Amino acid sequence: MIFNEKTIKLKDGSTCHFRNPKAEDAGEMLAYLRTCAEETNFLLRTVEECTETVEQEAKHLTAINESPLHMMMVATVEGKIVGNGLIVFNKRLRISHRASIGLAVIKAYWNKGIGRALLTELIEFGKAKGLEQIELEVVAENARAISLYRKFGFEFIGTRQKGIKLTNGTYFDEHIMILNLTGKE
Ligand SMILES: CC(C)(COP(=O)(O)OP(=O)(O)OC[C@H]1O[C@@H](n2cnc3c(N)ncnc32)[C@H](O)[C@@H]1OP(=O)(O)O)[C@@H](O)C(=O)NCCC(=O)NCCS
Repeated sequence: MIFNEKTIKLKDGSTCHFRNPKAEDAGEMLAYLRTCAEETNFLLRTVEECTETVEQEAKHLTAINESPLHMMMVATVEGKIVGNGLIVFNKRLRISHRASIGLAVIKAYWNKGIGRALLTELIEFGKAKGLEQIELEVVAENARAISLYRKFGFEFIGTRQKGIKLTNGTYFDEHIMILNLTGKE
C-alpha cells in the first residue's frame, strides 16, 4: 500500500522524511536492517538471518508496496534510512478489523522523536483504513518501546512467557499490547 509522503521536524530541529521504500533502496535497506539487528535484542530477526540478496530485497519491497495487506514506510534523515514502520492487515473478514504493527529506529537516531512519529503515522494510516484495533508484541524488557506505546494508549492484554529465546539461552517474556481505536471499551 502507498503511504503519502510526509516531512516533519525532529526534536533537534533536523528534518525527517517518511515514504515507502522503493526497489532501488534494497541495498541500503539491507544495511539498515543489519544495523538494527546488531544493535538490539528486541527485534525478532538476528543479523545472521539478514541473508537476502539485494535482488531478493528489491522484489520483497516491490511486493510489499503492491500488497493490499501491507504498508511499509521508512524514515530518512539527510536521505539516509534511519527507521522503518510496518502495518500488516488481515485478509480474513472476521479479523479484518485488526492489524499488527512493528517499528524500529537505528540507535544513533533514538530520542529525536522518530519512533513517536512512525507510530503516529502507522496509527493514522490504520484509522483511515477503518481499523478498530491495532496490536503489537513487545519484549517485556523493552522499557523504551513500552513507554512509547502506553503514551499512545496501547494496553497490555497478555504475556507470552519465555516468548523469545536468544541464541545465548536467555529468555524474554513477550507482551501483547492493543490500541482500541473505537473509543468504546
Ligand atoms: C523503540 C524505538 C522505536 C523508539 O524510537 P525513538 O526514535 O527513540 O522514539 P522517540 O524518540 O520518538 O520516543 C522515545 C520516547 O521514549 C522515552 N524514553 C527514552 N528512553 C526511555 C527509557 N529508557 N524508558 C522509558 N522511556 C524512555 C523518550 O523520552 C520518548 O518519550 P517522549 O516522546 O514522550 O519524549 C527505538 O528505541 C528502537 O528502534 N528500539 C529498538 C527496536 C525496537 O525495540 N523496536 C520496537 C519493537 S516492539
